[in-house]
Amino acid sequence: MNRRDFLQFLGGAGLLSTLPLDLLAKNKIDLLVPSLPISTEDKLITLDGVNYDILIRWGDSINSKEKFGFNNDFIAFHPLEKDRGILWVNHEYVNPLFNGGLERTKKAVDLELKEVGGSLVEVKKDKDQWKVVKNSKYNRRIDGNTKIPFAWDKQIAGSTFALGSMGNCAGGYTPWGTVLTCEENYDMFWGDKLRDGTSKKSWFSWDKIYPRSPEHYGWVVEIEPKTGKSKKLISLGRFAHECAAVNKAKDGKIIAYSGDDTNDEHLYKFISNSENSLEKGKLYVASLEKGEWISLDINDQPILKEKFKDQTEVLIYTREAAKLVGATPLARPEDIEFDPLTGHVLVALTNNKPKGNFHGSILKIMEENDDYGSLKFKHDTFLTGGNEHGFAAPDNLAFDKSGNLWFTTDVGGDDINKGPYEGFGNNSLFVFLRTGNFKGKVIRVASAPRDAELTGPCFSPDFKTLFLSVQHPGETSKSLEQLTSQWPDGGIPKPAVVTLKGPLLDKIVEGKL
Ligand code: FEO
Ligand code: CA
Ligand code: CA
Repeated sequence: MNRRDFLQFLGGAGLLSTLPLDLLAKNKIDLLVPSLPISTEDKLITLDGVNYDILIRWGDSINSKEKFGFNNDFIAFHPLEKDRGILWVNHEYVNPLFNGGLERTKKAVDLELKEVGGSLVEVKKDKDQWKVVKNSKYNRRIDGNTKIPFAWDKQIAGSTFALGSMGNCAGGYTPWGTVLTCEENYDMFWGDKLRDGTSKKSWFSWDKIYPRSPEHYGWVVEIEPKTGKSKKLISLGRFAHECAAVNKAKDGKIIAYSGDDTNDEHLYKFISNSENSLEKGKLYVASLEKGEWISLDINDQPILKEKFKDQTEVLIYTREAAKLVGATPLARPEDIEFDPLTGHVLVALTNNKPKGNFHGSILKIMEENDDYGSLKFKHDTFLTGGNEHGFAAPDNLAFDKSGNLWFTTDVGGDDINKGPYEGFGNNSLFVFLRTGNFKGKVIRVASAPRDAELTGPCFSPDFKTLFLSVQHPGETSKSLEQLTSQWPDGGIPKPAVVTLKGPLLDKIVEGKL
């Protein structure tokens, strides 16, 4: 769309459409950028020309025995045929007020164990609208009690398997059609044990009812969408895994990048020994100062040999090993995607509040020889958060087919539109345009209901639909009588997956805005 078309597209915006274009060109061009204003309303608001429908909500039945879990996050689309596929959706964590109840009883924890993990649901486009196929043979849950083996030849904290997956934040998708779901803040549920004997308390006190080993969580889990068969990939290390972004090195080996989403934690890269598996290979951590991926293999690093018993122990306590070899502390590395226009690896650095970094940025990693298997790289900032671009705290990333970068923000519920986040409004979905008349601009496409975060943006294979999670609306509610959000149905707020589509979304995706 050119500027004149856009003025017409604005329709009733009479005054704008009478301004001469040369005047608009002089500093006034931003008036034309089709961006949503900020909102603090308890509504999911989308730009004109982008419409949303609710696909599935927390508590909806997916078959005769199982329900869609709480706090939907990462979404992966596994295609079956045209306009039909299996969606994997993460269920990251619980809210005792809306789930088991604030009192930490066995009954409450048992209810909450069913809310986490993820859902597999068949989806089908019916008269231009995506619908969940209820009772499909593919519909199933992985929850906090599912038995999941460790893909490793040694036991992990005395076991060959874990019970359940939780803290499932973002993820990835492999070239062989499996889903990767990443266990991020596992310590919320189980606390944590460090090697020096210190421990960290859990938030939800599940460990008081079920004394499980925290070492069984904090891994990347690989799932076959058609069967639900799952395994925990020990080789990728254990930390607050945000995501696992998979690509291929020039020699065909599989590469997975993953961030540890905690202040001053690190960025990792795994180089598989194989072209079709992530079970065996070498884990590296980034030194931005040196521009190097540093091996975390005990046989490469005398300091690791001195401090750790074996490679299994290195992988269980990856953070500690990373610090010993000189990894660079980062501002909460979250989602990672590959720029289709340049091949660069983009990493959302959400923020680092104790260091006065409130607005975050997107980091660009440029691997040597454009090879994801390289051990050397250069880096730069791709995009900065703050007033200039109108967003703060970038988290999930997704590219469309024109190379526009869609991203969501994660300002914590208590910080929304306050202090350093004043003027940024509710968390939102943005797109950074790389083509067309608004190239270089960041526009706000959707604004979340109160306290919510928009997560897991995932395009359908034809790029006509963006699947999007609305996570934790009303999260700061103090009681059921004082709900901060009642989205989407009134009453207790419900996380839900929505589909975004419409003529404006098509134009952006086609690079024609
Ligand atoms: Fe669960 Fe790092 O967001
Ligand atoms: Ca996230
Ligand atoms: Ca986040």
